[in-house]
Amino acid sequence: MRRHARTLTSLLSLTIALNGLAESAPSDITVTNRTVIQRCVIDGSSARMIAVGFPSGFNYAYDAQNCAPVYVWQGGFVDFSGETLGRGGRRCEILGVKQSLGTAINPLRIGNPDTLPESLSFKGYQRNQETGTPTFRFEINGLLVEQSIKSPSTNTVQISLEFESKNSGDKFYHINSSEHEQVTLSEGLHWHRPGVVMIPSRINKASISISLRNIDKPYIRKPRSLSGAQIYSYYCKACHSTDGTKLIGPTFKNLFGRSQEIIRQGIPDTIIVDTDYIRESITDPQAAIANGYENVPMPSFANVLNGHDINSLIEYLQNP
Ligand code: HEC
Repeated sequence: MRRHARTLTSLLSLTIALNGLAESAPSDITVTNRTVIQRCVIDGSSARMIAVGFPSGFNYAYDAQNCAPVYVWQGGFVDFSGETLGRGGRRCEILGVKQSLGTAINPLRIGNPDTLPESLSFKGYQRNQETGTPTFRFEINGLLVEQSIKSPSTNTVQISLEFESKNSGDKFYHINSSEHEQVTLSEGLHWHRPGVVMIPSRINKASISISLRNIDKPYIRKPRSLSGAQIYSYYCKACHSTDGTKLIGPTFKNLFGRSQEIIRQGIPDTIIVDTDYIRESITDPQAAIANGYENVPMPSFANVLNGHDINSLIEYLQNP
């Protein structure tokens, strides 16, 4: 009994080792003592999003395409579901209620409040060595700008801008303040018209402080939902191939409908693989053992996967 348990434990760690870091099971990223920066794809946002989480529980999403912070949330940081999406990176879910900052797409304009910049290019960020907090850098019409975002106290957000040189033209920042409790501007700035802040040419350091409204909406976490392919790669791939290769367990290539010799309660039998047999293999793998694989037991997933997960997995296995 003891030995059996140990084999099972080492097999499970082998599974994890084989899966490697590239495909770890979904997990929340928690922020401890330093600010965390995570590039990811957040549903309903531009593809080039950077999530920033502070130890205080304040988080914001920065749109690197348009060089502006777009929304904030309090509480948890992100759940990195692990789904890799081509060039966009990995998908993640924010763990809190989104609050818009009211910044327009491309909020900064130079010279004329209504003319979009001729050129805008994101130049990455620098991190404060101690706190890890980023300062974003971008070039707008050739002018280098540094931008940082912080939350000096609960429900307040400060957007700071620093321009490379003075007298580089009047600047305008489009921000819709109607949803905010209050918006305060640093010295020398003023409202050009509702929704547009003017930063006069002589000023090279500006900040816009937003007092957010209290939100009464509670945050409800979406139940985790993995695709059959994801479940396969997290939990089964280490022992079952889909290309015919024999690993620790039989391959899943042409699994459905194939005839399989098994031993059930010590009695040999030949069965045709169907949904019921697969379901049983997942939840009670010792009930029937595939011939030739008697030496290594398959672990049960009865307490790991729920009914919904198993259905998605079975659907995936029909044509892996
Ligand atoms: C640690 C290795 C291991 C892992 C992980 C594993 N299995 Fe298995 N599996 C086996 C072995 C060994 C067998 C053959 C012995 C048996 O039938 O119990 C097997 C048999 C099976 C069979 C029967 C195949 C046949 O041809 O009769 C199915 C179906 C199956 N596994 C599904 C799964 C699924 C689905 C997962 C992931 C949720 C999974 N297994 C994870 C080792 C593993």
